[in-house]
Amino acid sequence: MNIHPIFDRLVTRQEQERLLNQKGNVLWFTGLSGSGKSTIAEALERQLFNQGYFVKVLDGDNIRSGINKNLGFSLGDRKENIRRIAEVAKLFLDSGAIVLCSFVSPTIEIRDMAREIIGSDDFKEIFVDTPLSICELRDVKGLYKKARAGEIKEFTGIDSPFEAPENPTLILKTENRSVAECVSEAIQLI
Ligand code: ADX
Repeated sequence: MNIHPIFDRLVTRQEQERLLNQKGNVLWFTGLSGSGKSTIAEALERQLFNQGYFVKVLDGDNIRSGINKNLGFSLGDRKENIRRIAEVAKLFLDSGAIVLCSFVSPTIEIRDMAREIIGSDDFKEIFVDTPLSICELRDVKGLYKKARAGEIKEFTGIDSPFEAPENPTLILKTENRSVAECVSEAIQLI
């Protein structure tokens, strides 16, 4: 390959972390659409920012509308979606950032790939464990209704799989719990 690694000349992650006075980390939120992943990630970002941390949320809104706008929801496209996201998360991690990734990332294989790219020491998997019935009841974006009507194909939980993590770092149940409660649990990981 005509690639010349320059990593040995660049400012290191350790140097960046010293400057920022924090340790880089990736919190990876997985769960069904409407489970509350992004709501929790956004509230956590705000809290960490207010406490003086350098933090970045990656989610469908800033990734699927930009770098990944050529990708759909087949399992192959979802895998490529997550591969690119994990590489982006790793670049932020190398800058010492606390990265909050909020993606359905529906299969164990897909999340294992993300863990491998990011490195298992820095990858904290958070399962936002909201039952399908609740996500469907909330139906914040109206997508479950469309999926049930057959207007959207390959919708996670309806006609596309979701595999719960077998051994996540944290399980967040959102039913009958406030966003603040979930955030205070997640923040313990940092
Ligand atoms: S992933 O499976 O590739 O990780 P990602 O988190 O980027 O998915 O995007 C999921 C979001 O896209 C959902 O929250 C929902 O708003 C929207 N979406 C549109 N079509 C689908 C679909 N077929 N399955 C799941 N989510 C979909």
